[in-house]
Amino acid sequence: MSASDAATETGNGKVPPKYACGETFVPKTRYIDPEFLHLELERLFTAVWQPACREEEIPDAGSFYEYTIGRQSIMVVRQKDASIKAFYNACTHRGMKVVRGAGCAADGDLRCAFHGWRFGLDGRSAFVPSRDEFLHRPREQWSLRPVSVGTWGGWVFVSMAENPQDLLEWLDPLPMALEPFRLQDMRFRWRKRTKLAANYKTVIDAFIEGYHTPGTHPQTLRPMQGPRPSAEPAPPQEYVYAPYTPTIPYRNHSRFIYTARPDSGDRDSARREQAARPEVFANSMQYNYLEVGSLVTERDYRAAQQLATMDAGDVPPFVLYHQLCEQLARAEGVDFPTMTMEQYFAGNGDWHVFPTLVLLVEKSCVLGYRMLPDAEDPNRCVFEMFSLEHFAPGEVPQTSWLEVERWQDHDGWGELPTQDLQNIDAIHAGMHSRGFEGLWLNTAQEMSIRNEHAIADRFIFGVDDRDD
Ligand code: FES
Ligand SMILES: [Fe+2]
Repeated sequence: MSASDAATETGNGKVPPKYACGETFVPKTRYIDPEFLHLELERLFTAVWQPACREEEIPDAGSFYEYTIGRQSIMVVRQKDASIKAFYNACTHRGMKVVRGAGCAADGDLRCAFHGWRFGLDGRSAFVPSRDEFLHRPREQWSLRPVSVGTWGGWVFVSMAENPQDLLEWLDPLPMALEPFRLQDMRFRWRKRTKLAANYKTVIDAFIEGYHTPGTHPQTLRPMQGPRPSAEPAPPQEYVYAPYTPTIPYRNHSRFIYTARPDSGDRDSARREQAARPEVFANSMQYNYLEVGSLVTERDYRAAQQLATMDAGDVPPFVLYHQLCEQLARAEGVDFPTMTMEQYFAGNGDWHVFPTLVLLVEKSCVLGYRMLPDAEDPNRCVFEMFSLEHFAPGEVPQTSWLEVERWQDHDGWGELPTQDLQNIDAIHAGMHSRGFEGLWLNTAQEMSIRNEHAIADRFIFGVDDRDD
């Protein structure tokens, strides 16, 4: 059945039974059916705001970046006045892509390589060889077709919708919650890109809940063993040290909290005990630098080493750690973000910026992921991982950029991301099993996953069953 047949069959406001979620159940068809991928690409990705690139990737007038989503190629172009425009990347002559990849149209024209048509940075037709040989074409049809564009947090967002919702409204509550962290002032330290044999949501789902932490990352339960604890599987009794990571669904996005809050009650008592000792807390932070390469920057790592030598006192170690990080950053000329602990806890955590972006937000840096669907195959996706950090002016390093076909061909992912990546193929392969119907979700720690499907149903099937 084609996507248009599905539309006819369901009409507005009804999810076909094979794609219908329960309160806590998500059918596997939404991950493995080619038809569902087609619906997502046709109805969801054409309607939502999505991050195309970072502003720093188009630094100069004429800089362009090609963002590909499904079969759609969109070019984002920096204008002469530093503003940004976006266009469908299709020549208005015979459709050829005008730009490929990223680069800079230094002479101020975007040139189609086929017959040599040229377009200004603003998309207007600038040169057509033998223009008088084209008959009766309406004037407005010569220009590149625009796509809506907006910026937030240093990202350039695009939307193919005719009249998209205001970007900041769409992103709510992120702009308010993350304002103190000043994501727009962060720059890439490193980024990696590879392909994975899984649906893009299979991968997203592995990064927007913390319930898998003790199962997949048991070493994070053992900071008392040092900065590099054992990764042996955890026996059931060790789960008392598991972090409680509740998910918070919002209308368009979700968040989970991965740091034990001081007021989060008895469920975190085991972790609180660990966290009362400076060297134990410091071990966790050192681990993140050594084996994640983000969440904790190189500078924060030095703060953690200092913390490890301090005695326990009245001030909780995590407060000391934040003070040390800030002191070091300021001493090194970084315009470190200033915020209260309240503000920190309101923004800190793991955000799903629906549909493609995942951000783990700290004061010094953001660990991010982006997953993009394949154009045809629900069992494939593009996976990106990156670290954005606050640097001193003039100290922004050359981004360390890795792109590999197979993630196994690169051994620098770090222990913790490697554990996640090792799961992916097996999760997605298991979904195809005749003995598996769909996902049964934890009502406290996995509602981020249920939420992403509720959001998708609004766009794909016109069903809005949640009010916030
Ligand atoms: S297709 Fe671009 S100039 Fe002909
Ligand atoms: Fe993980």
